[in-house]
Amino acid sequence: MGDYILAIDQGTTGTTVALMDATGRLRASVNHEFPQHYPKPGWVDHRVDDIRASVEKGIRGVLRKGVCKASEIAAVGLTNQRETALLWDRETGEALNNAVVWQCRRTTEFCEALKSAGHEKAVRRKTGLVLDPYFSASKFRWLLRNTPGIKRRLAAGRVAGGTVDSYLVWQLTGGQQHVTDVSNAARTSLMNLKTLDWDSELAELFEVPREILPAIVPCSGLLGHTRGVRGLPDGIPIAGMAGDQQAALFGQACFAVGDAKCTFGTGSFIVMNTGGEPLHSHAGLLTTVAWQLGEGGKPVYALEGGAFICGAAVQWLRDGLKLIRRAADVEALAAKVEDHGGVEFVPALTGLGAPHWAPEARGVITGLTRGTTRAHIARATLDAIALQNADILRAMEKDLGRRMRPLRVDGGASANNLLMQIQADVLGRKLLRPQLIETTVAGASYLAGIGIGLWRGTADIRRGWQAGEEFRVRLSAPARRRRRASWETALERTLR
Ligand code: G3P
Repeated sequence: MGDYILAIDQGTTGTTVALMDATGRLRASVNHEFPQHYPKPGWVDHRVDDIRASVEKGIRGVLRKGVCKASEIAAVGLTNQRETALLWDRETGEALNNAVVWQCRRTTEFCEALKSAGHEKAVRRKTGLVLDPYFSASKFRWLLRNTPGIKRRLAAGRVAGGTVDSYLVWQLTGGQQHVTDVSNAARTSLMNLKTLDWDSELAELFEVPREILPAIVPCSGLLGHTRGVRGLPDGIPIAGMAGDQQAALFGQACFAVGDAKCTFGTGSFIVMNTGGEPLHSHAGLLTTVAWQLGEGGKPVYALEGGAFICGAAVQWLRDGLKLIRRAADVEALAAKVEDHGGVEFVPALTGLGAPHWAPEARGVITGLTRGTTRAHIARATLDAIALQNADILRAMEKDLGRRMRPLRVDGGASANNLLMQIQADVLGRKLLRPQLIETTVAGASYLAGIGIGLWRGTADIRRGWQAGEEFRVRLSAPARRRRRASWETALERTLR
C-alpha cells in the first residue's frame, strides 16, 4: 500500500473527491454538482441516488488524474453536509425516500409545537442545539411518517436511518457498517452532548426509534473497510469522518481554545474551538462536538453560528435571476460599483439561522431605484454574506465576553478577494486566509491519516498549516456602523 489518502467531501450542492499525499499536499481533486429539488416553497430534497452517483463518479474521476494507483490508497476520509436525513433498506441498500436536506423547513410546524409545549430548554441543555427544523431529528420523524411502506419495513427491522456520513460508510463498506461519527451525531438533536450517546428521552420526543439509528464512533480510527466499491480495492480502512464544518475547523488547524474559522460554502459557518467542555450560548449560537480522536479520546467542543445561505445566494443570482453565467463572475460584477447603492438583499431563502432562528423568514431585496443595476444586486449579495457573518461573530464575542482572535477563512468563496475585504471591513477584524482553502477535504484527510498512524496527531497537522493572505480592516468605525444600521433595517423587515 502507498501513502495516499482519498478524501470525500459530500457537500450540499456537490461532491468533491481529493487525494492527499503523505506530506499533506492535496494532489488532485474533482467536483461533481448534482440537482437540488424544491418540491414546495421552503422544502429542499436530494435524490439519494444522485448523492451516491456523484461520490462514485468522483472516486473514478480523481483516480483518472493519474496521481497514484488505487492500490496506493492507504485510507479513506469522509466529510459531509450535516443534518440532512435519509432512510434506506438494510437488506437491499435501496433509499426509501429522498433525503431531507438540512436547509429544508418542512418540519417547522412540528418544531413550533414542541416549543409551545415547553421542550426547548431541555433540548438545548442536552444537545446544545436550538429547536429548529435545521436538525435531523424532526426530519427523521417526517420521513418515518411520510414514506410509503415504512410500517411494514419497520416491523421487519429493515429500516436504517442516518445522516449522509452514515449512508456513505454503509455504501463504501458494502453494508457492513452502520455508524455515524460523533460530530455528525451532535447535529441530529438526538445525541446527548455529555454522554456522546443517543438519548432515549430525545428519541421519544422526536418519535425516532433507537433501532434505526447508527452506532456512534469517534472521528478517527478504524471505522470500517471498503468493500465492493467500483474502482477501489476491498479492505482500505475508512479512518476519518466528520461533519464538514468540524472537518474544516480541523483542516484549519484550529486546535487551541479560541481558534476560529469561517467556511464560505453553500452556507457560511463560523466555528470556534472551546476545548474540553461544552460552552452554552446565551446569544443564539450552537454548542457542538468538534471532534473526538480515537476510541475513548477526549471530545473537543465548539461554538458555532451558521448562516444558511452564502454561496447559495450567488447560485440563486446565477440560476434563479440569471444575473451571471458562472458563480465566480459575481466578483467582477460586484466590483463595477463602489458600494451597494442603498440596495439590501437579505438572503433568507430558507429562513434564517443563527443567531435569529426564524424558519419562516423569507428573503427581501430593498432600496431599489431607477439607478439600480445588476452590479448593485451582486454587491448587495456579497455585503449580505459578510454582514450575516458579522452578526454571528458579534454573538460569539458576546458569549465569550471578549474579542476573538483573527478569523481564519476558507471554502470556495474565500477565493473572492472582494468578498474577503468586505468581510474584514464589516467585521472590523483581520482575516487570515491559508494557502490551502480546501480545508474541509484536508480536514477529512488529516483525520484519516491520524486514524491509520500516518500522522501522529494535531502537532503534525499544525506544522503543515501555511498562512496565505491577510485582509486588514480598511473601513472606518463610523462607516461600519452606518453600513450595519442599513442592513439591520432590511433584516427587521425579514423578521417581521
Ligand atoms: O450544516 C450544514 C452544513 O454542513 C452544510 O455545509 O458546505 O454544504 O454549505 P455546506
